[in-house]
Amino acid sequence: MIKFRNIKGTHDLLPEEVSIWRQVENIIHFIMEQHGFGEIRTPVFEHTDLFIRGIGTDTDIVSKEMYSWKDQGDNLLTLRPELTAPVARAYIQHQLANKNPMHRLYYLDSLFRRERPQKGRQRQFHQFGAEAIGSPNPEQDAEIIAVAYNMFEKFKITNMTVVLNSIGSQEIRPKYLKLLRSSLLKVKLELCSTCQNRIEKNALRLFDCKNLHCQSLLDKNAPLIFDQISDSDYKHFDIVRKILNEIGIPFYHDKKLVRGLDYYSHTTFEITSTSLGAQNALCGGGRYNNLIEQLGGKSTPAVGFAAGLERLILAIDKSQFSVQVPDIYFIHLGQDSTIIASKIANDIRMRHNKIVVFEVLRRSLKAQMREAGRSNAKMVLILGDDELKSNKIIIKNMLSGDQKKIAISKLDQYFSNLD
Ligand code: HAM
Repeated sequence: MIKFRNIKGTHDLLPEEVSIWRQVENIIHFIMEQHGFGEIRTPVFEHTDLFIRGIGTDTDIVSKEMYSWKDQGDNLLTLRPELTAPVARAYIQHQLANKNPMHRLYYLDSLFRRERPQKGRQRQFHQFGAEAIGSPNPEQDAEIIAVAYNMFEKFKITNMTVVLNSIGSQEIRPKYLKLLRSSLLKVKLELCSTCQNRIEKNALRLFDCKNLHCQSLLDKNAPLIFDQISDSDYKHFDIVRKILNEIGIPFYHDKKLVRGLDYYSHTTFEITSTSLGAQNALCGGGRYNNLIEQLGGKSTPAVGFAAGLERLILAIDKSQFSVQVPDIYFIHLGQDSTIIASKIANDIRMRHNKIVVFEVLRRSLKAQMREAGRSNAKMVLILGDDELKSNKIIIKNMLSGDQKKIAISKLDQYFSNLD
């Protein structure tokens, strides 16, 4: 017999965990709405080409991490590895620009990347993110960074660092990449094989290499993109910094921060936390003024971020969340009682919105009482043959230990008084 297990890099979430997830999700929805963002939900799979064109052929995501397949109709499809390109696709398809010059969209959904699983890195994972489409102005960049920062503040995440940079407009990119490649020519063979490959294919990513020798070669030889940005790009970045200072969001300007997806321009940022371990990025984002045009829409400026939900939950102090307990554990003994108890339990749930856990294993009174205690129910109802004969039911308050018998016909009134 085959023993089925979940697929490597995916996780089952059992009810106790889901209870925390739902509380976290509720706060995320609330904070997004507070900042004026409306939720968008796009399909879990898209045409592969959307991601190739959107994220870039030479990125890690497109070159080695996508779950893609050909369906029976010969369509090349991909499970979404990120949500910025799908949101941009939906923005173009539904002609949102004609309805309003500004759209603030957010999402909370699952994604798929075939990465090497480790703590904080899964193959199916969840992101919440925000995309502000329509404004070219730095106040929008600052607002996006503030949404992310406020979110983590609300969850009392400690040891956070906002890392910020500008990689300028895409127009300066070819000139900069030429300069970067030529400055590394003489040390090319000393770089690791990944970096050697990246020089031609995706030279900006050289700065992401974890190899210390590569980093020291880059420090000594490579020009930084920030030093090549235009005056207007610099002004844009400076206003982002001024607004963050004014709001009181501390940040660190890392001139080496480049992001792993091709669509970025101008502001790029990440928020990291030392409570996370090796995968320390809580979120990442930036401006992507060329993406919408690249996907067939009108040239439209945009900026956004996305954060890993699993990583947020790893970093959160779980004691801030409540554990849901039943209002009532319903104990009953004997077939006739069971039939009547089933109706009473149903009425209480439907008429009084209580959480009622109903015994279905026909255990002894002692075992049912033990189970009621384990469930942490606030109240226990007991209906046995003796009670049924006198049309009464026992109500036990599990906090005070007080117990009383009331007429079954008075139960509805009893719960109405509690409501
Ligand atoms: P990203 O940096 O690829 O950016 O991912 C954003 C965040 O998703 C990461 O900082 C991390 O918290 C989480 N994440 C990424 N991969 C995994 C994984 N395998 N397991 C668990 N968590 C993961 C984007 O996806 C861009 N679309 C962000 C963006 C939105 N830029 C502009 N708008």
